Amino acid sequence: MKKIIIAPSILSADFANLERDIKLIEKNGADWVHIDVMDGHFVPNITIGVPVVKAIRKITNLILDVHLMIENPEKYISDFAKAGSDYITVHYEATLKNTNSVIDLIHSHNVKAGLSIKPKTSAEEIKRYLEDIELALVMTVEPGFGGQAFMSDCAEKIKYIKTNSKQDIIIEVDGGINDETAKVCKEYGANALVAGSYIYNSSNIKESIDLLR
Ligand code: DX5
Ligand code: ZN
Repeated sequence: MKKIIIAPSILSADFANLERDIKLIEKNGADWVHIDVMDGHFVPNITIGVPVVKAIRKITNLILDVHLMIENPEKYISDFAKAGSDYITVHYEATLKNTNSVIDLIHSHNVKAGLSIKPKTSAEEIKRYLEDIELALVMTVEPGFGGQAFMSDCAEKIKYIKTNSKQDIIIEVDGGINDETAKVCKEYGANALVAGSYIYNSSNIKESIDLLR
């Protein structure tokens, strides 16, 4: 069986000690760094921008998994790509009129493309794009904040995506992931788990990462 990718979300890290907190997950077996970019429009919160991604690129070799929770993502993809993103995931709901061209734009920068769906969006809506993307991100909370409770009915979308996508797609899940909810998602077919508060609030990060896997 292929290894499950663990992508800690630095939204729950200490932003005044970001380098320390990224080295901490690196040392303890994380595969990716999940970076939550929020614009205060698509979601009611503002977080990280391009300069921070650029700075993170300099201090880690981990894969940078950039989750754009922003309106008009096409305006910023080039900048996030140049900052060193390995994956750029946009929200389907933010690209309703131009999903294909946004995916093409990400690929034109040699970056892997992800498409995410919010809790109220059905997996059927992104079926036609599943052949074109490298990653599908199922949100199991309303995007915007860390530390929310897992919505189990959203996790069922993982099954649909797995059945309707190419073999090597990454199916990532984000929101309320802990050792219990991770089990459910893996059973449905998720192979990448984002976890913020579960990892960064833990007193034993290595054990938490191992438990998720
Ligand atoms: C929420 C973000 C998540 C968040 C997850 O909008 O996309 O990545 O950091 O946090 P937890 O794991 O605490 O639910
Ligand atoms: Zn996220």
